[in-house]
Amino acid sequence: MTTAMRGTSAEGTATDLPRLLPASQQPQEWHAHAARYGGRVPFRGAPGRLIPDVREAGLTGRGGAAFPVHRKLEAVLDAATSRRKTAVVIGNGAESEPASDKDATLLWLAPHLVLDGLQLAAEAVGADQAILYTHADRRHDVGRRLEQALTQRRQAGVERVTVQLAQAPPRFLSGQETAVVNHLGGGPSIPTFIPPRPSERGFDGAPTLVQNAETLAHLALIARHGPRWFRQVGTAAEPGSTLCTIRRADGTARVTEVPLGMPLRDLLGPVTLDGAVLIGGYHGTWLPVAQAVQLTLDNHALQAAGARVGAGIVITLPPDSCGIAETARVVRYLALESAGQCGPCLNGLPRMAAALAELAGARPRRQARADLERWAGLVTGRGACHHPDGTARLVRSALVTFAAELDRHGRGRCSGTNPRPFLPVPRAQARTEEDWT
Ligand SMILES: Cc1cc2nc3c(=O)[nH]c(=O)nc-3n(C[C@H](O)[C@H](O)[C@H](O)COP(=O)(O)O)c2cc1C
Ligand code: SF4
Repeated sequence: MTTAMRGTSAEGTATDLPRLLPASQQPQEWHAHAARYGGRVPFRGAPGRLIPDVREAGLTGRGGAAFPVHRKLEAVLDAATSRRKTAVVIGNGAESEPASDKDATLLWLAPHLVLDGLQLAAEAVGADQAILYTHADRRHDVGRRLEQALTQRRQAGVERVTVQLAQAPPRFLSGQETAVVNHLGGGPSIPTFIPPRPSERGFDGAPTLVQNAETLAHLALIARHGPRWFRQVGTAAEPGSTLCTIRRADGTARVTEVPLGMPLRDLLGPVTLDGAVLIGGYHGTWLPVAQAVQLTLDNHALQAAGARVGAGIVITLPPDSCGIAETARVVRYLALESAGQCGPCLNGLPRMAAALAELAGARPRRQARADLERWAGLVTGRGACHHPDGTARLVRSALVTFAAELDRHGRGRCSGTNPRPFLPVPRAQARTEEDWT
């Protein structure tokens, strides 16, 4: 499920992609990793020393929010210094978004790059503990692969900080930062209210850095090749490459590494202009293909269209699927995944799901659409986490992009002729205590 965008030699030149994934698409054992990137982890010798390079590189988080990585490193190091409490680092490979496959692919093919990044992040914030948190993988046994990688690294003598492996429950919220910390601390896998932020007081009360698995892999390459090398692809405002999960209308899916700022026209390949594309996954935005092909894959360009890169998920809707019905299935799933601890999320999301289900059927009440718009406004910004905001974004974009389809449903018709669901949605399940722990 991976592909190389351009050919690359064993070492690769600065602008060659892939940088993170092996061009051979074969899992990289330690000896192959050492041959490609050098057999040592480029430690800097003291906490804080890597941070200026990360700032200059302009690396942002690849877990969805695109937050500047150097600011998180600084915050954790500052908290650890001022509180005289040793920091903890967590690599987030939960990939709880059902449509995404990029972190599992990265961990499967290039585990040592992520583990190099975890060690370097630990040094940067002066941590003495690192945890790599991954989901029970849908396709591969990532946990077993990581155990093997850790054994190889111990034998090679490159591990400074002991790395523990931990498993994320298969729920949408299990990858959310405070849910990760909560779960690893023995609590349920649900978000907690902030403040305090994990950077202040996280795992075991320590200042905690939570960084996406792909972000850590980029960090490892910045430490090795420097910020100027990193900036040789991407845009000036959003440098570097990013992993994307591309799902095409024909049902095929692949993970690919592309420069930020890549024209969506090139990423999407041959598409019908009157179709729709979902950018950024289930907290993302539906756009008409005709609009998407004018844009580039970076937050600056996408923002103008109300979209964002998120975790790099790009999905083309098949012409014989109904966008409203597909969104209704996803929103029902998202509503059931609410942790149920904030009123607007607990009450608003199921109502939105029900209204959307009505709109997906024949001759919905006019009021259903107005209700949906109102609830999308009411839940936004009202949760302890961004789950309601992301769900509202998806719903609003569906109402706009599929406006003609909504009118069709009002007349008792639907352009979706394929009864088979398209977007991957785990079997909807209500929350139980067991699921979250
Ligand atoms: C509902 C929800 C689910 C999330 N799931 C994940 C996830 O599976 N993996 C991940 O890395 N980040 C996930 N995030 C983002 C994390 O909260 C956090 O911002 C991220 O792990 C930080 O890493 P980064 O700065 O390197 O991107 C999720 C956020 C939300 C609101
Ligand atoms: S906003 Fe929703 S998902 Fe997030 S913590 Fe509150 S109830 Fe849970």
